Amino acid sequence: MPVSQVLNCETAPAEPILVQGWVRTRRDSKAFSFVEINDGSCLANLQIIADQGIPGYEDVLQLRTGASVSITGNLVESQGKQKWELQATSVEMLGNAEEDFPLQKKGHSMEFLRSIAHLRPRSNLFGAVFRVRSRMAYAIHQFFQDKGFVYVHTPIITASDCEGAGEMFRVTTLDGEELDTAPEKDFFGKPSYLTVSGQLEGETFACALSNIYTFGPTFRAENSHTSRHASEFWMVEPEMAFCDLQGDMDLAEEMVKYLVTDALEHCREDLQFFNSFIDKGLIERLQFVSERSFERVSYTEAVELLENSGEKFEYPVEYGLNLQSEHERWLTEEHFKCPVTVYNYPATVKPFYMRRNDDDKTVAAMDLLVPGIGEIVGGSQREERLDVLRENLKHHDLSEEDYWWYVDLRKYGTVKHAGFGLGFERLLMFVTGVANIRDVIPFPRTPGSADF
Ligand code: 4AD
Ligand code: MG
Repeated sequence: MPVSQVLNCETAPAEPILVQGWVRTRRDSKAFSFVEINDGSCLANLQIIADQGIPGYEDVLQLRTGASVSITGNLVESQGKQKWELQATSVEMLGNAEEDFPLQKKGHSMEFLRSIAHLRPRSNLFGAVFRVRSRMAYAIHQFFQDKGFVYVHTPIITASDCEGAGEMFRVTTLDGEELDTAPEKDFFGKPSYLTVSGQLEGETFACALSNIYTFGPTFRAENSHTSRHASEFWMVEPEMAFCDLQGDMDLAEEMVKYLVTDALEHCREDLQFFNSFIDKGLIERLQFVSERSFERVSYTEAVELLENSGEKFEYPVEYGLNLQSEHERWLTEEHFKCPVTVYNYPATVKPFYMRRNDDDKTVAAMDLLVPGIGEIVGGSQREERLDVLRENLKHHDLSEEDYWWYVDLRKYGTVKHAGFGLGFERLLMFVTGVANIRDVIPFPRTPGSADF
């Protein structure tokens, strides 16, 4: 029986139960031993009392931290902080741990724990992080499925650069010179890459099934050494036909609120752990986000606020420049003190597919910013007008031949449509208070590092 289920028992089961897990601590006294085990099903350990003389007691005396065990016993009411403990009737050691098991002591640095990414899920912190990750993935599907969105699997290998930033990992079976001289000899007959976003393919499905979402891994070969960038990360990308920027912003805000509320409701024990050991203000902040409405501000207004802030920023603030993370964080942490959506960015800093506004200067783009992180969502209304899209492709030096199928959507029954991408790891950082993206993904890939 999973420990989470054991600890939630209303009354003690009449029959002995079987519990399996890994040893956290062992203390021996004259006639019995206490063994704390954890099986990862919840944060809490289960305390086992093993009396001298039960079958397997000689094993109990060998158990070290990290060993795997199988225990049969009866649930009895505990004197300690938990409701139940297990009075063992027999114990079997499945595999002892060698003396140098690295997770014995508390207080290891996050850097050290990353170097043992194969064992860190057995620590309290990482067990909690990955249970929350699982719950949030489930909640994302629930959010969209309840609204009737269709889940689409967009390809991981693609020939198009959605964001136009040229930060793609090439997928090839060619060697040496042929890479440049004979790309037609390559496996797919032309240069192919790992996708940076499922959006373009997602749009084709929205222009058939109306409301869709993708949820999968995406890849970026950007050389960013920050706590918020990974080379492989997961993105949730809804796309809605017959929808404009307003509807897009509404959905992004509703989704972030929904996920935060779901975590508060279903991950309470783990969030309390983060609140005690990682980020003291976490639960209060999440509650605030779940209850309060967010702010919205145009890019132009945001730039004015930043210019008049009296703050000294490292990067310049000026109409036409992208907002940097320090600017985003000032807006959400210092000025609005809540999540804020910035919309209508200058066309010059955004990709080819965004819809041009009537001012001819800005596009119908939006970024949702949260305290502590900055951007967690980026989205836009898409350019649905054939002639304007063609101009945009030209401006961005992209050939219409390469995007013929994307252009086709505008030829055959075009509709206004909009969507966004939510960075799944950024959401997890926000929900757990964990400060580095490397610590909310099981095996992080970042420049110079793809271990495990
Ligand atoms: O703003 P981005 O680049 O938008 C897109 O890719 C659009 N095609 C999405 C769409 O409209 N369907 O990325 C979306 C989000 C960002 O807001 C951020 O949360 C996350 O993806 N993200 C990253 N997360 C981790 N590591 C990286 N290197 C990331 N780059 C973007
Ligand atoms: Mg973005």
